[in-house]
Amino acid sequence: MKEKVIGILFSENHLKTVEKLFLKNAKKKGIRLVMINTSKDIDERTLEKKICDIELFYNTSAEDFAVEYVKTLESFGKRVIDSSRAYYTAEDKWLFFLICKKNGILTPETRLLCENIIIARNELKKFNQWPVILKRVCGTMGEFVERADSLAEAEEIIKKFWKKGSERAPIIAQEFIESPSYRITAIDGKVVQTAIKNGHGWKSTGVYGNHFEKFDTNWKLRRLVKKITRVTGIKVCGIDFLKNGDKWYALEVNAEPAFDFFEEEREKLICETLDYLATQTGIKSKEENEIQKFIKGKVA
Ligand SMILES: Nc1ncnc2c1ncn2[C@@H]1O[C@H](COP(=O)(O)OP(=O)(O)O)[C@@H](O)[C@H]1O
Ligand SMILES: [Mg+2]
Repeated sequence: MKEKVIGILFSENHLKTVEKLFLKNAKKKGIRLVMINTSKDIDERTLEKKICDIELFYNTSAEDFAVEYVKTLESFGKRVIDSSRAYYTAEDKWLFFLICKKNGILTPETRLLCENIIIARNELKKFNQWPVILKRVCGTMGEFVERADSLAEAEEIIKKFWKKGSERAPIIAQEFIESPSYRITAIDGKVVQTAIKNGHGWKSTGVYGNHFEKFDTNWKLRRLVKKITRVTGIKVCGIDFLKNGDKWYALEVNAEPAFDFFEEEREKLICETLDYLATQTGIKSKEENEIQKFIKGKVA
């Protein structure tokens, strides 16, 4: 049988716990891993030579820079889980809302606000959701997520976001759903871990120094997770939900989850990831083929 080889993208100064666990468990499973450090300077030619016999890659890094490596590998005709396209689906909160809407997935009602503050004010008046959540379309760890109880407060927050960022990044206004954040880690649509993120106040972000509890999933929620995985194309992800009564609202999908909610389960999740990756060696997905066509300029 042909040896299974997988390239692993990571961005650390040296191999840390996660990378070591990947290596240890891959060895047990008879998979050869080639580690590629995206924080070291590798020029494209050297990279191309280094990876010429590898078809499948897994990106463990959520760093912005790593996605540029993903694009480079894709341009060499390689398949990366998760793809650069999936990365933007996960990163762009407006795009995520549109995808949910289109596919009948319940998500908080959302409006894209105009970059002209006078028009944005009118849009907020029309939206008429108080309190309202304001967020930049791109952001992590809740840095650009705020709640406003009035129009004046909303205007202040929008101006603050614009001042803080280097440019006027697009802002969305979102219906407020009072709920803790329910995180599901999923691999190829299968729920592999659950965790309730109970923050201080309404915003629950960050995984450090917190205590997490698990929660039960029923078949409806598991079916929803499968659907979100399918429509976003993100194979290894952390999906955040909000819950009101028995209604689950999809809030966001994070690609490259860190697997660090429960330290004692990290290795198990890494094994699940490796098992999934092993099934994918030698397969070119429909989406990958499309990316290849796009890169080669075969589609407009
Ligand atoms: N519409 C909303 N209703 C209630 N809480 C929200 C809403 N949007 C975000 N939050 C809270 O803020 C946190 C961060 O928002 P999120 O959209 O996940 O941004 P980030 O990508 O910065 O984590 C969420 O985990 C949740 O606790
Ligand atoms: Mg979040």
